[in-house]
Amino acid sequence: MKDQSPYSLDEVIDRRIYTDEDIFRQEREKIFKRTWQYVGHESELREPGRYRLTTIAGEPYIVCRDQRGEIRVLGNTCTHRGATLVRGSRGQCKAFRCPYHAWTFDLEGRLIGVPIPEDYGPRFRREDFCLTQARVETYEGLIFACLDEQAPSLDEYLGEAAQYIERSCQGKEVIGYNKCLFKGNWKLYQENFGDGYHPPFLHQGMGPAFLSTYEANGEAINLGNGHMLLKYYPPEPQHLDLSKLSAALGIPLTLETMKTTGIINPYPGDYDSVLSVFPNFIVPDIVSVLSVHRLTPLAPDRTLLEITILGDPQDSPEFRQFRLRQSTVWGPGGRAGIDDIAVAEKCQRGFHAKAIATSLMARGSSDERAGMVFNEYTIRGFYRQWRHYMGWSG
Ligand code: FES
Ligand SMILES: [Fe+2]
Repeated sequence: MKDQSPYSLDEVIDRRIYTDEDIFRQEREKIFKRTWQYVGHESELREPGRYRLTTIAGEPYIVCRDQRGEIRVLGNTCTHRGATLVRGSRGQCKAFRCPYHAWTFDLEGRLIGVPIPEDYGPRFRREDFCLTQARVETYEGLIFACLDEQAPSLDEYLGEAAQYIERSCQGKEVIGYNKCLFKGNWKLYQENFGDGYHPPFLHQGMGPAFLSTYEANGEAINLGNGHMLLKYYPPEPQHLDLSKLSAALGIPLTLETMKTTGIINPYPGDYDSVLSVFPNFIVPDIVSVLSVHRLTPLAPDRTLLEITILGDPQDSPEFRQFRLRQSTVWGPGGRAGIDDIAVAEKCQRGFHAKAIATSLMARGSSDERAGMVFNEYTIRGFYRQWRHYMGWSG
């Protein structure tokens, strides 16, 4: 842009935040070590000894249920010489035994076994070698961990996002998984889920005419604290123009085929929602696919996306089947998810063109908090929080 920009700092994003190695390292320290991170679901850890592995700010952790039923997030590194204690993604055990020299830790992280301990002499005290632990809190079955002792409680952190987690996730259980690596910065995927502007154009595979109708009945809400919400009010099926939709999709449609293919939701609620929790957690609850998405940054241009599909224990077998089939909306083979991943990679490639230094996020008035879904003040709210954590002014 030449001369004086007509846009405020809030409305233009410096593209180096997606590519710069130093900014990436700072994000680990200033954001990922200080915020509440989703690390698993309680239904994955029903019995004592159940565990799953995760990372927080690039560090390996074990999320487990101990003998007393408490959920713990323990450092997955032996306090002897550093080996990770557990491999794979999940399992069940009575204790964590290091593969290297067999130091053994109980489910609360205490060192309970050391082979040939006498050679350490009297200085050696087992209690000095417990596993590290992160703060843990749960909300509606979701397990969050935080490495910062000074961070606010999870309740305070979630703020207005909590009510939407409650609405979507209360009483749910894990019914499936999906994950992939993509060649893009983690923020590109997060901002995409606060962006109601793209769906009718990017997600052509979902049916452009249908989505145009759908999107017109949406609302975007900046929830504060960097959290974003998109709400969609699906049209009544009888108000859909089937001949227009059939022409757009190139296949003849009836209300029945639209229900069985999931184009319209045969199990509608009062509205669908896509909640994004700062910085890297998303809860899309649309067309009866409830899932939680966690982004793990691996490099400025590499991200691990882990999707966990949730269902209701009370689901009828037919509804459970429908949820599982619909879950293919997301992920690397998904009808919508593949577009979001592919476009994150396209943006990342586009950032190699250095002549354009900024991205524009100026849709909607600057102090707006809730309004039409096509606006971008939700994303501006996300980046305000990002700058706050990073210690950037403006
Ligand atoms: S590194 Fe774990 S017992 Fe030695
Ligand atoms: Fe999308």
